[in-house]
Formats: sequence, structure tokens, C-alpha cells
Amino acid sequence: MNVCTGFIPLSLIKTNEGNIMNVNPLNLENKVALVTGAATGIGASCVEYLARMGAKVMATDIQTELGQQSVDGLREQGLDVAFHTLDVCSENDWDKSVKATLAQFGGLDILVNNAGIYIGGTLLENSLEQVRHVHKVNVESIFLGMKSAAEVMKPGGAAGKGGSIINLSSIAGLIGVPGHSAYGSTKGAVRLYTKHAAVEFGKLGYGIRVNSVHPGVIRTDMGAQAFQDFVDIGLAKTTAEAEELIIGMTPIGKLGEVEDIAQMIVFLASDAAGFITGAEFSVDGGMGAQ
Ligand SMILES: NC(=O)c1ccc[n+]([C@@H]2O[C@H](COP(=O)([O-])OP(=O)(O)OC[C@H]3O[C@@H](n4cnc5c(N)ncnc54)[C@H](O)[C@@H]3O)[C@@H](O)[C@H]2O)c1
Repeated sequence: MNVCTGFIPLSLIKTNEGNIMNVNPLNLENKVALVTGAATGIGASCVEYLARMGAKVMATDIQTELGQQSVDGLREQGLDVAFHTLDVCSENDWDKSVKATLAQFGGLDILVNNAGIYIGGTLLENSLEQVRHVHKVNVESIFLGMKSAAEVMKPGGAAGKGGSIINLSSIAGLIGVPGHSAYGSTKGAVRLYTKHAAVEFGKLGYGIRVNSVHPGVIRTDMGAQAFQDFVDIGLAKTTAEAEELIIGMTPIGKLGEVEDIAQMIVFLASDAAGFITGAEFSVDGGMGAQ
């Protein structure tokens, strides 16, 4: 299936017998995904792209009404998606959402740990409460998500077929950015949590790949917060000027769109990425390469 605008799937793969076959390894039919923070932004786009590539997708978020609306729209287009309320900081919610996914779709092969929050301000302005809160939402969620999913994905688990976990980090988890110390420290933790889980799950024979994706500045509500933060800490006079400044920091000369991230998620979720684990993927227009 190739229905995503601008999406060119690979089609030639080498079989174990050494033959080249014309199939689409990005096809996600027979796979079940759970996406967090899926009511809007990057998460909502991931739900759509995964579903258009054939996956059955459980979209989750704390914003129940918006998440349900988004899923209703996709269902009307014939996509096999459902919604469940999930606060990624709640172990109980994780348990219920994973059980709901197994009950509705009969498995779990892909987890996209996407939900996250941003807090700006300089290090001197940040309070301990703010720093603790952003770490709770952005890092503890990754722990709970990987634990809840791996428990059912590993051999002998309720799904039991292994799978792919994709953690949303950030360019701010790789390089320093003014106003991003609290947020960036969470995303640095996500990067390394990913590698530890990948190595451990690999060595223990779980058949679960774990990778991190590092977006540059993407046009979403959170992206807009970054512009405002540049204004608040005095690096730009207006949000328009902040946007120009950020575009100037991006070699490719534009901001990213949610689809740029969703297409990377599809790749990492698919069998085309079968030998990739513990790796970090920048989707940042070259910002981190400088
Ligand atoms: N937009 C960017 O420029 C950018 C850049 C780098 C990384 N990221 C990362 O990508 C991910 C998605 O970002 P986005 O731009 O789509 O953000 P967004 O703010 O547009 O959407 C985030 C979603 O997460 C949900 N959410 C927040 N707290 C939650 C919680 N406790 N439980 C469940 N859901 C919760 C929100 O309701 C919302 O639907 C985040 O992890 C973010 O850090 C974004």
C-alpha cells in the first residue's frame, strides 16, 4: 500500500535465500501499534501514517475528547484505529491501555512513546518543581511505556512476538540550545534510556528493537512554544523573529512538518529496520550536524 503523499516505500528486499523480491517492507499489515500523545501534533500524524501503512493503531492521550475526534475522522476513512485515555505518568493507565489494545486488536508490536511536554526559561529561572515535573512527564513515561510494552511483547508475553519501540527525544537531547536546559536534559535521558533498553532487550533475546528519534523544530503547538521561549528569554523581539532565527539555525532552511517525523516512525516500526536497534535518528534539517 502506498497512499501517503510524498511517501516512497522501498520495494526490493533480499530474502534469506539470497533472492531479491519485490515486496514492501514498510507494509505494517498484521502489526498492532500504540501511540502516546496522539490527540494532536506529531502523535496524531504517527497514528495516521502507521494506520495508512496497514497497522491497527491504538491512539492514546490525556486529551480524551480531541483524541477521540481525531480517531473518529480516521475511522470514517476506513482506517483501523481506536482511542484510549492514557496519562503516560500513570502506571495504572498504562496497564489499562495495553490491556485494551490486546483486547481490541489481539497483539502489540509497535510502541511510539511520543507524549511529552516542553518547559522553557533559562536555567536560573527554572524552579525545582518545574524541572521535576518535566522529568516526570518526559522520562518516567518512557520507563513506564517501555516496561509495559516489553512485558507483553517479549517471548511468553501476552503478545509475544517481539517488536519495535520508538522513543521521541529531540535535537535538544543531542546539543545545547538556549532556554532548553530543563527540557533538553529530559531528552538526553530519553536518548540513553533507549540505548540501555535496546542492548538489554537484545541480549536477553526479547526480539524488541528500541530506537530514538530526534526532531528539530517541528510546526506543532510545542514548536510554537519554542518560538515564544526565545522571545521570553530575550533572544528575539517577536515570535516571527524567533521563527526566522530558528530557520537560520537549520541548514535545510525551513521548519519540519509532523509528516517528516511520522515517516521516520513508520520506517523504524517496519521490518525494513529489522537490524536497527539502540540507534538515534535526527530528523532536524541538519541542525545537529553543525
Ligand atoms: N514540535 C517540536 O518542535 C519537537 C521537537 C523535538 C521533539 N519533539 C517531541 O515530539 C513529541 C511530540 O511533540 P509535539 O510537538 O507533537 O507536541 P504537542 O504539544 O503538539 O503534542 C503533545 C501531545 O502529548 C499529550 N500529552 C502531554 N502530556 C501527556 C501525558 N501526561 N499523558 C499523555 N499525553 C500527554 C498532549 O495532550 C498532546 O496531545 C514530544 O515528545 C516532543 O518533546 C517535538
